[in-house]
Amino acid sequence: MTTTAPTPATTGFPLSFALTPSTDARATAEREAILADPGFGKHFTDHMVSIEWTLAGGWHEAQVLPYGPISLDPAASVFHYAQEIFEGLKAYRHADGAIYTFRPEANAARLQRSAARLALPPLSTEDFIESLKQLVAVDASWVPDAAETSLYLRPFMMATESFLGVRSAQKVGYYLIASPAGAYFTGGVTPVNIWLSTEFNRAGHGGMGAAKTGGNYASSLLPQELAYEKGCAQVLFLDSQEGKYLEELGGMNLFLVYKDGTLVTPESDSILAGITRDSIMQLARDRGHNVELRRVSIEEWKEGSASGDIVEVFACGTAAVITPVAQLLADDFALGTAGAPAGELTMSLRQELTDIQYGRVPDRHNWLTRLA
Ligand code: PLP
Ligand code: COI
Repeated sequence: MTTTAPTPATTGFPLSFALTPSTDARATAEREAILADPGFGKHFTDHMVSIEWTLAGGWHEAQVLPYGPISLDPAASVFHYAQEIFEGLKAYRHADGAIYTFRPEANAARLQRSAARLALPPLSTEDFIESLKQLVAVDASWVPDAAETSLYLRPFMMATESFLGVRSAQKVGYYLIASPAGAYFTGGVTPVNIWLSTEFNRAGHGGMGAAKTGGNYASSLLPQELAYEKGCAQVLFLDSQEGKYLEELGGMNLFLVYKDGTLVTPESDSILAGITRDSIMQLARDRGHNVELRRVSIEEWKEGSASGDIVEVFACGTAAVITPVAQLLADDFALGTAGAPAGELTMSLRQELTDIQYGRVPDRHNWLTRLA
């Protein structure tokens, strides 16, 4: 990929983080009440990370500081030109109390790819992982231990330079916040319906669809509202050129499972290459399943559904883990069965993935990194 990303003045050695402990940390009882019913993305821990980047100085001023508002000039270019990227990963508490995260080097690499596309400076994998360790070390008591709960980690980077000219910013901030998490969907792990958006696309060929940048989510919000109106939990997008091929959901990737055990997931240069998707492909291949990353048309899904060849459908992502899909609803057709139970393979892959993440089975692919 050619890129106009500014070349950072890197120091060549890892950042060291200065800690300013919060004087206003939540009391144990308050924290425990939150952890007992965390929901998703509603509550935040007592600290956050910030690192500053300037064209002249590279990455510097790495800090762990009390969680709180970020003060920016109204002319900061992120407000005007949306030069922003983010990541999402989770910290899991194992039975022995230790805290691990899942494939953080893959999130670091994706943040670097997103940075390149958005002309933001790359943060090294080492500094990225260190930021996770630093925050989780100070906020370890925020990692819940009930089944299916975790601490959702949200790294993000944005243009903080005050300048209204349209060019990549020469001052950038990287931040990390953390939020205790239960199930993403309020119904827990029950099959959801999804809505097919034919009027709106999320991203286009040559656009930013493969980058994890706020703009892609902004473009999904109106179609997501239309999905809610139809009683659906997520929206499914088609390719923007022909309107024929499956892309992904607003915040998740999609898999179709065939009767012969083949798993198919859409290939496209305008979707996010999910780390959960990649992990599921690996686990399914380990079990001897045929796994295909290729273009998948909506016609193929219609035909496979009518013939009975497509037997399960599921969505996947860090927040959603693996979520079974009961029905796809569109203006003039519906696929799948209302209220259909979760597929057997869907749930067994979900079990295996979460068993690895929570340390209940051996980590044979070396996917876990200890944070605390
Ligand atoms: N697609 C979109 C648009 C997403 O927001 C996400 C979630 O991060 C995914 C796919 C799945 O990616 P991952 O499995 O890396 O979380
Ligand atoms: C994630 O799964 O990390 C995401 O960013 C998706 C969003 C729906 C929370």
